[in-house]
Amino acid sequence: MRPEPRSRDETLALRRRLVGSSCKLFFSNDPMKIIKAKGQYMYDENGRQYLDCINNVAHVGHCHPAIVKAAHEQNQLLNTNSRYLHDNLVDYAERLSKTLPGKLCTFYFLNSGSEANDLALRLARQYTNHEDVIVLDHAYHGHLTSLIDISPYKFRNLEGQKEWVHVAPVPDTYRGLYREDHEDSVTAYANEVKNIIEQAHKRGRKIAAFFAESLPSVGGQIIPPAGYFQKAAEHVHKAGGVFIADEIQVGFGRVGKHFWAFQLQGDDFVPDIVTMGKPIGNGHPIACVATTKEIAEAFAATGVEYFNTFGGNPVSCAIGLAVLDVIEKEHLQAHATEVGNFLMELLKEQKMKHPIIGDVRGSGLFIGVDLIKDQAERTPATAEAEYLITRLKEEYILLSTDGPGKNVLKFKPPMCFTKEDARFVVDTIDKLLTDMEKEHLNQQKTSTCAT
Ligand SMILES: Cc1ncc(COP(=O)(O)O)c(C=O)c1O
Repeated sequence: MRPEPRSRDETLALRRRLVGSSCKLFFSNDPMKIIKAKGQYMYDENGRQYLDCINNVAHVGHCHPAIVKAAHEQNQLLNTNSRYLHDNLVDYAERLSKTLPGKLCTFYFLNSGSEANDLALRLARQYTNHEDVIVLDHAYHGHLTSLIDISPYKFRNLEGQKEWVHVAPVPDTYRGLYREDHEDSVTAYANEVKNIIEQAHKRGRKIAAFFAESLPSVGGQIIPPAGYFQKAAEHVHKAGGVFIADEIQVGFGRVGKHFWAFQLQGDDFVPDIVTMGKPIGNGHPIACVATTKEIAEAFAATGVEYFNTFGGNPVSCAIGLAVLDVIEKEHLQAHATEVGNFLMELLKEQKMKHPIIGDVRGSGLFIGVDLIKDQAERTPATAEAEYLITRLKEEYILLSTDGPGKNVLKFKPPMCFTKEDARFVVDTIDKLLTDMEKEHLNQQKTSTCAT
């Protein structure tokens, strides 16, 4: 035990000396030292309580006692790799299969979202014998080399786009290519995918997969119009490719109406591969790939073993099972709908009041608030969004921004978030936006007086 706890500044100095500087901190101008958390709250070294609107990993609430207990009990008994038979792994696969459409009946367990997406890529390529991947613009799918290659959010700042990667426009009906006034944005966006495939074929390329987050989050909390995935999948299947749905941020009941976000597209849509991570273990590193028998068999046909030392170990699976239990017992999916709808209503009231709010969109406890400088161009209000989240932190609320313009306030709190929390956040946003508007007016008056 250390005799004296370190101050925040000492920890920061040590981190700066010892940890790679590309590992960024939240609120980098004034980083926080968090030492404990409970439910939807986090606490700094001075005992100050912050409302967490960011953390979709602590899905059922930080340090939920049922999850801590499940981990502790299994840790006392056994933890080993999945080359031994263990009931936790098969029980967990069976429980997950009950949440998914019947054809997604084969499971692989891993340790991170990145590992899951990398395996999904291997499965797709092995099954189709093709190499190329279509991704949505601004997407992020993980930190492995293979995934940086299919993440425009990253590769645009690095050496660029590989010849086997094709970028489709984000199906964003607010600020995308085809907007809410388009007569058929579903077909228009799907036709973009069709065109990409045709162009790729002309160059002799073959499509292995269409890789998409079911709700593009890094892309700016986007809700693709229902029916888009079906139409895009039709084109991709025709080209011999498969559809991979990345549910790493948005799965496990977050969207309220459904357990999986891809189900928002309609009952007639089933991806060929689904990847899961983040909320799956409530903070414990576990991830999963679900796919069809046919795809799994094609992968096995190589004769090469898939072995993952920690993936699917008894402790991880005990935790995964406990997360599913809590979601069920505490009715968190229905809760996400109820609280999410309430939060959306409050935010929409603010939209009527503050012109900086261009759009409020979401499903369940996955909500985006698009801040704009002007109605005509919908120019992202990037600096204002940054200022707002800095000020919110001073009011003990943790919120982040996302989207290519870094102007979308991104709500994805632990699922135990309450209506009172929603009211507190929105009242605070109202107060801060009102102050910002007053300040802006004063500045305008001063500059008019000066001229
Ligand atoms: C949509 C999406 N996919 C994949 C990943 C990678 O997950 P991990 O950081 O657990 O490797 C992330 C992480 O932010 C993500 O947001």
